[in-house]
Amino acid sequence: MIEENKEKVLILDFGSQYAQLIARRVRENNVFSEIVSHKITAEQIQKANPKGIILSGGPASVYVKNAPRCDEEIIELGIPILGICYGMQLGCQMLQATIQPTNTREYGRTACTVNNTSKLLKSLSKDITVWMSHGDQVVELPEEFESLAITHNCPFAAVKHKTKSFYGVQFHPEVTHTLQGSQIIRNFLYEICACTGDWQMHSYIDTSVADIRKQVKDGRVVCGLSGGVDSAVTAALIHKAIGNHLSCIFVDNGLLRNYEAEEVIKSFKDNFTVDLHAIDARDRFLNKLKGVADPEKKRKIIGHEFIEIFKEEAKKISQAKFLAQGTLYPDVIESIPAHGGPTVTIKSHHNVGGLPAELGFDLVEPLRFLFKDEVRKIGEELGLPEELVWRHPFPGPGLAIRIIGEVAKPRLDILRNADKIVIDEIRKAGLYRSIAQCFAVLLPMSTVGVMGDERSYENVIAIRAVETTDFMTADWCHIPHEILGIISSRIINEVKGINRVVYDVSTKPPSTIEWE
Ligand code: XMP
Repeated sequence: MIEENKEKVLILDFGSQYAQLIARRVRENNVFSEIVSHKITAEQIQKANPKGIILSGGPASVYVKNAPRCDEEIIELGIPILGICYGMQLGCQMLQATIQPTNTREYGRTACTVNNTSKLLKSLSKDITVWMSHGDQVVELPEEFESLAITHNCPFAAVKHKTKSFYGVQFHPEVTHTLQGSQIIRNFLYEICACTGDWQMHSYIDTSVADIRKQVKDGRVVCGLSGGVDSAVTAALIHKAIGNHLSCIFVDNGLLRNYEAEEVIKSFKDNFTVDLHAIDARDRFLNKLKGVADPEKKRKIIGHEFIEIFKEEAKKISQAKFLAQGTLYPDVIESIPAHGGPTVTIKSHHNVGGLPAELGFDLVEPLRFLFKDEVRKIGEELGLPEELVWRHPFPGPGLAIRIIGEVAKPRLDILRNADKIVIDEIRKAGLYRSIAQCFAVLLPMSTVGVMGDERSYENVIAIRAVETTDFMTADWCHIPHEILGIISSRIINEVKGINRVVYDVSTKPPSTIEWE
């Protein structure tokens, strides 16, 4: 957990797809939040000393056997509780309300009337739009409760207990479709939990720098740079803490985007006086990938080769005792699969680039409490170049999983040139920041075209652009047709070997973001 004396709100997760969103909304309002299992005991909560508790939504029904529950003693702790959707139903049930399936299920945008501006709904308009997603609801509420808001189908869209500090909302204030949702979260934090808002990125930097110094003392830290924002901010934070006791390793695997390797090296040399080991391993990776078409095999080869190179290089850095990693909060949350069973491996990506424990280093992970948007804020505060801080995520295996089938140098060159045009035009149109990830994919086929009076039989590029906050679900971006037109004609005219461009209009799920 974060420092004992920091204000925090605990989010008890009942398998909600929105738990991380709740945590982020709380933090955006300057209060630290942590997601914990719903199995946490009242005693553990008391020890953690949170200012408030939020019970998340979840896919179960509170009245079925084995539905996830929480320690009922939490109601008696005197710590304010906000139940959201399933969390509201559970809290109300613990306080003697009756929950039943609804006749008309409510999904999506719903008109809601506020009929009691208690602290929770303070400063809201009378008519609000909320996001509903439920098949059960409170049907009977004991006298000790007050109803705060209603919808056409839901007589208890928001409730409050008269004597205990329990509030509930049937809708989801954490999603942006609930238009005044952030105000509701703010009301809970400041009007009900009496938070002061001490979660600020500049103070996080100070605390983190002090922690790194305490952990590392005068030891040497090795940090792998990938070119992405997480490893860059990790290195920058550690550099601020221990200066030239930091050594960075950057491996050019030949699978990076246009000029990426040069840019990473330059931006580190310009911004820091670090001991930078830049390794040109392009041939080594390409040789290993010869003849390999299977995506999982590619991932394994690239991951394995990276570890080998990293090990060889780290051995050369004398007295290196610590390894810095850009692990983020979403990777460390104790997640609860909603369906209760083990999850299947769709892609093995989260292991690629991860370094095994046998390397014998102690880990330094200064970002392990942070979400990506917080990491970006820290990057900006530390003065990293905007280009680096806002760079779209890029997979560890790089362009190898954007060339469908076998990877070879000529195909990498084609893809790099096409990808650069996509990114340049998206930037020019001012869309780069609003898109979560955008790139080109080279397909394993040729199609017929006509160029001049000649028949051509050449490659196809697919463009993928998605909007997402957590990369678990994603929608394809509605990029204006004119921009797509410019990208397409530039790629066909400027990149030799391409005579067709297509746009990917699939959501995740069922499609994934990367094509491999
Ligand atoms: P998918 O394709 O699973 O991608 O929808 C979700 C996010 O993960 C990235 N991704 C990877 N990242 N190694 C990585 O480090 C990988 O092998 C890998 N595969 C996918 C993808 O770019 C997206 O941001």
